[in-house]
Amino acid sequence: MESEFQLPSISDIKSFPESSSSTKIIICRGRSCRKYNSEQVFENFKQQLPPDTELISVPCLGQCGNGPMVLVESEQIWYSEVHPDEVATVIKQHIIGKSPVKAMLYQKFHP
Ligand code: FES
Repeated sequence: MESEFQLPSISDIKSFPESSSSTKIIICRGRSCRKYNSEQVFENFKQQLPPDTELISVPCLGQCGNGPMVLVESEQIWYSEVHPDEVATVIKQHIIGKSPVKAMLYQKFHP
């Protein structure tokens, strides 16, 4: 008995993009972080975002009361109580300069 199954031709196979090597910045825009101006933090990141950087907003990072919380996901570097005026420093020193801003690190995860 002959099988009906046919292997797909090369042209039928869709390729998926390889995992991106771009830096991912996660901004919490949940209720607790919004109380401390996370919306402006998000806007400032959006306006100053370097190439190859992805901005992701989430409803909570599980650290309520310490916000606005910002996580540089690819490196697992956490920032807490981020002020909108500090966004430029994070971008310049950490995202572009590859050196986390020690004074702004979330002490719970970076003692
Ligand atoms: S609302 Fe931002 S950490 Fe929970």
